[in-house]
Formats: sequence, C-alpha cells, structure tokens
Amino acid sequence: MTTCPYSQKKVTYLIPIKELRTEEDFLNIHTWLADMRKNSPVRFDESRQCWDIFLYEDVDAIFRNSKEFSSVRKFHAPTPLRSILNMDPPEHTKLRKLVSKAFTPRALSKLGPRIEELSNELIQQALPSGKIDVVNEYAYSLTINMLVNLLGVPEKDSELFKTWSADLLASPKDASDEAYNASVSHVKETMDKVDSYLLTIINERRESPQEDLITELTQAEIDGEHLTDEEILDFAGILLQAGFGTTARLITNFVRSMLENPGLFEKLKNDSSLINPAMEEVLRLYPSIYRTTRYAKESFTIRDQTIHEGDEIQLWVASANRDEAIFDQPNTFLIDRKPNQHLAFGKGIHFCLGSSLARLEAKIAIEVFVKNVSSIQLLDTQLKPIRSMVANGLEELNISIQP
Ligand code: HEM
Repeated sequence: MTTCPYSQKKVTYLIPIKELRTEEDFLNIHTWLADMRKNSPVRFDESRQCWDIFLYEDVDAIFRNSKEFSSVRKFHAPTPLRSILNMDPPEHTKLRKLVSKAFTPRALSKLGPRIEELSNELIQQALPSGKIDVVNEYAYSLTINMLVNLLGVPEKDSELFKTWSADLLASPKDASDEAYNASVSHVKETMDKVDSYLLTIINERRESPQEDLITELTQAEIDGEHLTDEEILDFAGILLQAGFGTTARLITNFVRSMLENPGLFEKLKNDSSLINPAMEEVLRLYPSIYRTTRYAKESFTIRDQTIHEGDEIQLWVASANRDEAIFDQPNTFLIDRKPNQHLAFGKGIHFCLGSSLARLEAKIAIEVFVKNVSSIQLLDTQLKPIRSMVANGLEELNISIQP
C-alpha cells in the first residue's frame, strides 16, 4: 500500500471500503452490516489494513477498555482528528477535566432560547414555498449557528465554518492514490485556515474576555494549570469536526425517520414528550457516526481471530446499534424501546462531551418543526446518502411542508 505524503500510513477513514462504493451501497448499508454480524463479525480488511468489529458485545467491551485499547491515531497526517479524542490517559484525563470546566451545562443552557428563535425563523422562511431541504435549509443552518454562538465567533462567519467542516470530512473522489493525496493536502490547507482564524479570536479573548466558550477555555484552570493556545486550537478544531455536522445529521435523520414511519410525525405533534424517546431511537437506528477507531495495545484473540499489538480496529457503532442479540426487532422504530442502550455517543472515557448539547438542539429543532408544520411528504425520488466512511446522513432531504 502506498503512503500519503505526510505520514507512513494512510488515514483509514479516507480509504473507501470495497463494499461501500456506490450510492446504492450506502442506502443498503444495514443489509451489509447485518451480513457481517452474521458471517464475519471480526474481519481484517486488507485494502484498509485494519480490523472491523461489528457485534455490540465486542464494540461495547473495547469502548470500555481504555487500558488495552488506545485512541492515539497512528498516522501523522495533518488530519482534523487531533485533541482529546485522540489521546489516552493520563493526557486525556487532564485535558478532559480542563475542557469540561468550560463546557458546562450552564454554558449550554444559555443557548436554548436562541435555538428556538432560529428554528422558528428557518421554518417561517420556508413555509410560504411549501417545501424545505431539511439538511441545508434547516439542520445545518441551525447547528452551525449554535456552534458559532457557543464559541463566540461572529454569526456572519457561519458559512466559513460550514465550508471548513465539509472540507475536513470529505472523502476522496475515488480509490486512487492521487485522490487520496489530494484529500490529505486539502485537509491540511483547511486546518491551517481554521487555526489562523481561531488564533486571532483566542488572542482577542485573552485581551478582552467575553461570555463565550473560547474565553472560558482561556480561563479554565486546574491546580494552576491552563490550556495552551495549541490545546485550545485543537479543542476548537475538534468541535468544528464533531460539533455540528453530527447534530445536523441527527436532526435530518429524525425527519427521515418520520417519513419512514407512518404515524410518527402525528404522534410527536400530539405529544411532544415523545420527542426525547423517539430521538434515542433515531440515534440507535441512524447514529450520526458510522464507526470510530481504536488501536490494540497488546495482542489478543477475539472470536478465533488474533489481533496483534498496534493493529488498527474500527468499531462499527451503526452495526452494534442494530445487533439482534441485544435489541428486539432491531430494524424497527419502537418509540417506547426500553432500555435503549445504543452506542451512538460512544462509551467510556471518550463518551461524547457534546451529547447534552446535541440532544438539546435536536429536541428544540424537532419541537418547533412539528408545532409549525401540519403535514410532510418526501419530494426526492431517491434519498441521497453522504458517501463518507464516517458521516451517516443525507446530502439533502427535500420535503413538502404545509402550515
Ligand atoms: C448527534 C450528535 C453527536 C454524536 C452522534 C456524537 C458522537 C460522538 C462519539 C461516538 C464520540 C466518541 C468517539 C470515540 O470514542 O472514539 C464523541 C466524542 C466527542 N464528541 Fe461528540 N457527537 C455528537 C455531537 C457532539 C457535539 C454537539 C459536540 C460539541 C459541540 C461533540 C463533541 C465531542 C467531543 C469533544 C468528543 C471527544 C471526547 C473525548 O475524547 O473525551 N459531539 N462524539
């Protein structure tokens, strides 16, 4: 396998999986995942040089075991995957404590009124035309604005953030080395732009503090220790990568679920207390992230396969969440599913730091949506899945909406 210009190993999530090439493959991904659970629950993929793990029991166990499984990515390419997501204890423990000081429920709750106001604005804008692209005219507009609000950068720069985020997550256009290398270079250029933009804001906030996350990050302190500029940049960078596309996909996948499950829209309209349990089912059936990465710190055997020290392992959350050994009727949307122990936000020491924000944003977005709209219908002849090894969502979702 050839290597990228910046590292000795290709970034696995940028290498297309042989079973997931066409739009059709992505639309049928759950058939493939079910087949893998049944016939090949632990497999080594030669072309990506990594293991794929498909069963809930195994994914869950590896998530919980940060002693034997590392999160430190072994490639040194300039990827957006920096920061606490890619650290092990003790560095991870220290940094997570520090950023958690800034990332408090109080800081998030301040966003509630603005989420509602903006959701209302976006729906009112779309209603006269009788249609909306849920992805680009609702979910993304809302979640980018919220991230920009949270960080404390000007709302007018939302579009910049949207472009950067899409650039960071884009997959190569084909399986060639040229396409791969072009993707890596593009990611590096984008990270340089993000860093230089955010560094200006960090310096401004150090000089004149505001009520925002970047200020909080510059001030967070444990035992006299503060975050360095680089650590703040890395954390802000990870929010850009993980902090709004994921939530936008949750909102989109929620509306998709309403279209796929007759009666669900009306149920939520009549009783908004059902939005929370319905959201957990959306997260289970369509988790915003298909899979995440770990590395074996020592050799071990799992389901008769030997995984060697240093091997890369892909944990398929999207498969675990539909594992028939754990969930009754795994492909059915059951609004009252209890318990619903899905792994959409991960598990263990790296459990998603933004899960409360994501749930808050999606809850308000859906509440406002069902309150203002009396009926919905799919306008697209075929759903357009994002063709990414990471992002589980749609490129666009065009529906008709009646007031
Ligand atoms: C539906 C929305 C979201 C989903 C499905 C999601 C999913 C995840 C998952 C699966 C992980 C663990 C990855 C691993 O263990 O390798 C994670 C970690 C993380 N997420 Fe989220 N996320 C969402 C929204 C957000 C938001 C809104 C933010 C912040 C604004 C955020 C910030 C983070 C951070 C900082 C981490 C790293 C935590 C650590 O390493 O200790 N996420 N997320």
